[in-house]
Amino acid sequence: MAPTQTAALQGNAPTKNAELLAWVAKMAQMTQPDNIVWCDGSEEEKKRFTDLAVKEGILIPLNQQKRPGCYLHRSNPNDVARVEHLTFICTTNKEDAGPTNNWMEPEAAYTKLTHLFSGCMKGRTMYVVPYVMGPLGSPYAKIGVELTDSVYVALNMRIMTRMGKPALDMLGDSNDFNRGLHSTGDLNPDRRYICHFPQDNTIWSFGSGYGGNVLLGKKCLALRIGSYLGQHEGWLAEHMLILGVTSPKGETTYVAAAFPSACGKTNFAMMIPPKEYEGWKIETVGDDIAWMRVGPDGRLWAINPEAGYFGVAPGTNYKSNPNAMASVAKDTLFTNVAMTADGDVWWEGMDGEVPEELTDWQGRPWKRGSGEKAAHPNSRFTAPASNNPVLSPKANDPMGVPISAIIFGGRRSNTVPLVIQAFNWTHGVFLGATMGSETTAAATGKVGVVRRDPMAMLPFCGYHMGDYLQHWLNMQKKISHPPKIFQVNWFRQDKNGKFIWPGFGDNMRVLEWIVNRVHGRVPTEETLLGWVPRADQGLNLKGLDLSPDAVSEVTSIKEDEWKAELKSQEPFFESLGLKAPEALTLQRKLLISRLGS
Ligand code: GTP
Ligand code: MN
Ligand code: MN
Repeated sequence: MAPTQTAALQGNAPTKNAELLAWVAKMAQMTQPDNIVWCDGSEEEKKRFTDLAVKEGILIPLNQQKRPGCYLHRSNPNDVARVEHLTFICTTNKEDAGPTNNWMEPEAAYTKLTHLFSGCMKGRTMYVVPYVMGPLGSPYAKIGVELTDSVYVALNMRIMTRMGKPALDMLGDSNDFNRGLHSTGDLNPDRRYICHFPQDNTIWSFGSGYGGNVLLGKKCLALRIGSYLGQHEGWLAEHMLILGVTSPKGETTYVAAAFPSACGKTNFAMMIPPKEYEGWKIETVGDDIAWMRVGPDGRLWAINPEAGYFGVAPGTNYKSNPNAMASVAKDTLFTNVAMTADGDVWWEGMDGEVPEELTDWQGRPWKRGSGEKAAHPNSRFTAPASNNPVLSPKANDPMGVPISAIIFGGRRSNTVPLVIQAFNWTHGVFLGATMGSETTAAATGKVGVVRRDPMAMLPFCGYHMGDYLQHWLNMQKKISHPPKIFQVNWFRQDKNGKFIWPGFGDNMRVLEWIVNRVHGRVPTEETLLGWVPRADQGLNLKGLDLSPDAVSEVTSIKEDEWKAELKSQEPFFESLGLKAPEALTLQRKLLISRLGS
């Protein structure tokens, strides 16, 4: 080993944790970096990394008057989204990964990736990134260490997690930490693998520089490995936002909501209610991931394991999501957005006129009216949660917040009505399990096709989907005061393909009904799908710019569409084989008989 490596591992390493030191040494032996840098998370370090990234062309400084502390990163054009077909769950038994995951045998995966990782950091620096997922000191938090040869990853992890010295302090000499190894390799898509080893609490990611594939604390640890740990330890790791809604009377209700990628979590978590809701307040606890456990009081308590937002840029503007715009005003890293002539950022759907000339996400000149998008449809911002004007004061509470409602929602142009309340926990799990959504740009592949995405976890569940649904059903026995469960759909379209429901801030109207239901304040109408708002004493539509016909369309339940829907759910249940939970098969039969088909 080079002398610098030995120094970094022994005298200079900021920890005496023997397991950690041994593992870093082993990985360094395999990858052969020129240098090893232990990240402390300090301001000084941030400046040093940023300067280096700018010097190497990895970050482009933006106009510092307009966007202080902000930088642009352009990824390789072949590396712009999560790659589900290259993402693997590596468990000893194939059955444990289930039908919804790609599987590799662990030894085979380690061997294959060892070839790729061998010597891959020659001439590069290995950054050792210790991080905490969850509020510091929380008994519910988990610690990870990511070894990466990307300074962009180190800088992003600094925003997305509690990174550096506090993580090492919290870890002490425990060996309970996630072992993450990442190299951008040569970015060849044929040599790109995102491998999870749940039994070893290990993640190896090779050949990508894109967020979801390389910020290992996020989808890889907080969801894929997290869901596996959750099943073993009796808790839930979910693709959910967490928000607090406070009424003018000062009553705060916390809800968690699962929508698939690019289906509105970040928007809903930061929503500003319409003017008819003066005195109401929405506060963000999290915008993407929730870890939920049963508290001593028998309620479900949630923490957000993240410390920042890795949000979709296109469509974000002062009208749709002013709090997201405020969140990206400073100290934000942008990936694959367009740049204006004066060095600011731009993306499709931003406020104001489309600039005449831009530099597109690939660094090419772009002119208004060009058929191509200036920003990549999956371009993103990495912004510190502390920038969010409506960050919940509970966001750093080690115990999290008590959840009163769980909401499932997908992107459906028809069939699924605006809002339904489940009859009970099991029926709610059925609603989550049968979620479908039209695909978006957040993952590679065709856009706009309905796919089953149970609980928005299809790409993120680290074990057998049938066992996962059974785990949800089993949780009921532990939760003596369970949250109520709802299903929503903001995305119904009219005959011309236009969204009917105005969405965004107006989703407050649906949220108010949900809050009222939670506290048992309004009656409902029973339908075959569940309980829905009554025409009287239902949704507050005051000031809403929507015709009565449009309201009835967006809330309509059409039996022929539901007969087709039930048919289209069939292959999913069949794919679970004997692991399809009995209780859900029964829910399905009950719905079929209610439909009389
Ligand atoms: P990930 O971060 O990838 O998990 O996605 P997300 O669920 O946070 O999605 P996000 O909030 O970033 O929204 C993605 C897209 O949905 C954007 O284009 C938004 O404009 C759009 N969107 C969000 N809320 C609404 C809504 O209420 N109605 C409509 N029509 N579009 C919405
Ligand atoms: Mn997400
Ligand atoms: Mn989001």
